[in-house]
Amino acid sequence: MAKEKTVYVCTNCGQDSPKWIGKCPSCGAWNTYVEEVVRKEPTDRRPIAGLQPMKSKPMVLTDIAGGDEPRIDMGDEELNRVLGGGLVPGSLVLLGGEPGIGKSTLVLQTVLRLPDKRVLYVSGEESVRQLKLRADRLPHHSSDCLIVCETSLEQIYVHIKNTQPDLVIIDSIQTISMENIDSSPGSLVQVRECSASILKFAKETNTPVILIGHINKEGSIAGPKVLEHIVDTVLQFEGDQHYMYRILRSIKNRFGSTAELGIYEMRQNGLRQVSNPSELLLSQDHEGMSGVAIASAIEGVRPFLIETQALVSSAVYGNPQRSATGFDLRRMNMLLAVLEKRVGFKLGQKDVFLNIAGGLRVNDPAIDLSVISAILSSNMDVAIEPDTSMAGEVGLSGEIRPVNRIEQRMGEAEKLGFKRMLIPKHNLQGLDISKLKIEIIPVRKVEEAFRALFG
Ligand code: TYD
Ligand code: MG
Repeated sequence: MAKEKTVYVCTNCGQDSPKWIGKCPSCGAWNTYVEEVVRKEPTDRRPIAGLQPMKSKPMVLTDIAGGDEPRIDMGDEELNRVLGGGLVPGSLVLLGGEPGIGKSTLVLQTVLRLPDKRVLYVSGEESVRQLKLRADRLPHHSSDCLIVCETSLEQIYVHIKNTQPDLVIIDSIQTISMENIDSSPGSLVQVRECSASILKFAKETNTPVILIGHINKEGSIAGPKVLEHIVDTVLQFEGDQHYMYRILRSIKNRFGSTAELGIYEMRQNGLRQVSNPSELLLSQDHEGMSGVAIASAIEGVRPFLIETQALVSSAVYGNPQRSATGFDLRRMNMLLAVLEKRVGFKLGQKDVFLNIAGGLRVNDPAIDLSVISAILSSNMDVAIEPDTSMAGEVGLSGEIRPVNRIEQRMGEAEKLGFKRMLIPKHNLQGLDISKLKIEIIPVRKVEEAFRALFG
C-alpha cells in the first residue's frame, strides 16, 4: 500500500501547498486552505469496474466526420436551449444551485418525460420513498427511469454495468465518494476525483451524465474551481426563494453558447417552462402609478419586457438608505450621481429603493434608462404613460448609449402592444423604423428622455 500524504488545498482555486497558509498565493483568498488526504493511486491507471474502454486512435482533423453533434432531445425547450440544442452524448453536465431551488425537481421531471431512454437516477440525498413522493407530484411518468440510492462510486458503476442506462443522473456530487480515497464525501479531493472518474466513464462509454452540485455560501459551486474545469457544461439554477421564477443559466458550455437562459415557474406540480417571459413579468396593472418604468431587456438571446420599480422618499432617519433588488447597487448609485450632476436632481437626502419585478436579476445595461426613469417618476410622483417602453445604457456624462439588438427589443415591445419606445439616438443609424407601428422616440441625453417622458 502506498504511503499516505496530506496536502492543504485552496477551496477557492484548487491550488495546493504542503503546509497551511492563510492567504492563497494563487487567487488571493483568505482562509480557504483545508487539509486533504492525497489519493494513493493516480486516477488514470484505475480501471472503471467492468466497462470496456473504447480504443482511441490519433486521427487527422480532416478525416473526422464533421457535421452537427447528435443531440439528445430533453423534451424541455428551455433546457434544450440552455444546453445548446440538447444534451450531447458522452458529455458531463454540472447543474448547480442553492438548496431547495429545485434542481432535483427539474432533473427528475425531465427524465420522467424522456421517452425510450433508459435513465439511471442515483440519489445520495433522498430515499427511494422520498423520490417516489416527489415524482407523484410531477406529471408524465416513463417506466424506463430507474432509481437507486447509493453513495459509493464503485457501487454506482456496478449498477450502471447491470442496467446499461442511456443517461445517468447523480444527485449530488457532494454526497458520493470513492472507497479508496480516505476523505469524507463532499471534500475537495472526493469531489475532484469522483468527477474526474465520472468524466472518464462518460467519455469512454459515450453516456451523458448530469451531476447535481451544491452551491456554497459565497454562491459558487461547492468544491474547487477545478470541478468546473473538469465538466463540459456548467448550468446554474437560480432564483429568489420568495418568488416562483427560476432561471437556468449556462455558465460554461463546450457545446453551445453561454448567453442562453431558461425561465421556469415553480408550481405545485413541478416546474413549468415560461416561453414568453414578458407576459409573466408585466402582469401587474400599473396604470397611473408613479415609479414604474418598463424596460425592453435582453437576457440570453430572448428579448423581454420587464418592470422596474423605484421608490424615492425623504430620508427621515439620518443617513439616506439605498437598496436595489435585482440590480447592481453600485450601478444604481452611479446612476443617482449622474442624475444629481447632469440633470440637477437633488437625491442626496432621499431614500431610494429599486426593485426589478418578479425577482429577476438583470445584467443587461440597457435597463439603465428605465432605472433612471422610474427613479425620476417616483421622485416627482408623476406616472409614466403605461404604454411606453424604453431601452438605453446611461453613461457617466448622462449620455444615452446605444444598445445591442435594438430591432429585437422594438419588435418585442410592439408585439406586446406598446405604443411608444425610447431608444438611444445612436441606434437609429441604419435602422428602418418606417414600417413599425410603435412610435420611436430617439434620445441622446438623460435630459431629453426626461422631457420626452414628463413633458
Ligand atoms: P428540490 O428539487 O428538492 O430542490 P434542490 O434539489 O435544488 O435542493 O426543490 C424543493 C422545493 O421545490 C421545495 O421547496 C418544494 C418545491 N416544490 C414545488 O413547489 N413543487 C413541486 O412539484 C416540487 C416537486 C417541489
Ligand atoms: Mg435535491
